[in-house]
Amino acid sequence: MKATATAPGKTILVGEHFVVYGEAAIVMAINRHVQVTVEGRQNRALYISSDLGFSGTFVEDKYTAETGYVGGEKVLKPIKISAQTVLNAFEKKIGLNISVHSSIPMAVGLGSSGALAVATVAAVGKFLGRELSADKIVSLSTEAEKVVHINPSGIDQAISTYGGVIVYKKEEGITRLKTASAIPLVIGNTGIQRNTGILVDNVRMKRSRFPEIMNLMNSAAKHLSRQFIEALKSDALNSLGELMDINQGLLMAIGVSHEALDRLVYAARASGAVGAKLTGAGGGGCMIALTPLDQRERVSEAIRSAGGTPIIAKKADKGVHSWIHE
Ligand code: PMV
Repeated sequence: MKATATAPGKTILVGEHFVVYGEAAIVMAINRHVQVTVEGRQNRALYISSDLGFSGTFVEDKYTAETGYVGGEKVLKPIKISAQTVLNAFEKKIGLNISVHSSIPMAVGLGSSGALAVATVAAVGKFLGRELSADKIVSLSTEAEKVVHINPSGIDQAISTYGGVIVYKKEEGITRLKTASAIPLVIGNTGIQRNTGILVDNVRMKRSRFPEIMNLMNSAAKHLSRQFIEALKSDALNSLGELMDINQGLLMAIGVSHEALDRLVYAARASGAVGAKLTGAGGGGCMIALTPLDQRERVSEAIRSAGGTPIIAKKADKGVHSWIHE
């Protein structure tokens, strides 16, 4: 008997960075997924294989590589920790074979590690015959991710679990948002990996040098996310696009954009997108272009010509789900 779970990745529509200082970030699940399959094994080891070219076995904390020696432990350890967190929660002392397939590029802000933690928790829970509630999946995967990343807000785990669109505010946590629009996007991946912590730190230092200016931008971001929510509710695609453009201006001003991102943003706007901005931490990673369905090919081509890899995406309404099979 095997259990499989699949969980979507995410993109931040507006509000990144300003969310660190209390404003709302609006996050959407996308139709790119991580799939995790779990089965039992004879001994108490955790054997993990991933389609990123790594496989190996963890016995307690000791890792033995099978394929893809260099860097394998670092890539596979979060999966081991997620599985172990669920086994510990139910006091199960068993081994597992875990295999992972992902269509979410890593370390470019599309929520691959959150989706991986969520799918692993859901698959192991299903394998153990436990019906984990959505809240339980969020809390177990957030607990697991805390071991790997410092201070995760839990937003990636929440969006991968629930799907759809979520508003996140530090003080209020998450609110799920009903939206009519399919929110058609073309995502442009610069292929430049970046470190979210360093970018968040750079913004913090800029804030300490220019507090008055940065506070005004925070207040602009507050109004921006409010109006974005209104535009989402009324399915006003052009307003959403314009607000995304303004958000990109704010993100450039606080210093988190990148020449490669700007190139893709301008290329997308010039070829039919109604708005475009970086998504996530910036400094590389991905941009998103809100693009009417009949313009998606043109925008994809423009992103490719400007040096990026286009990913056609839309809202994934369904969050994590799991099933038992042979
Ligand atoms: O790069 P991502 O998708 O992990 O997004 C980071 C978003 C920030 O607002 C920059 C940081 C945060 O923790 O909210």
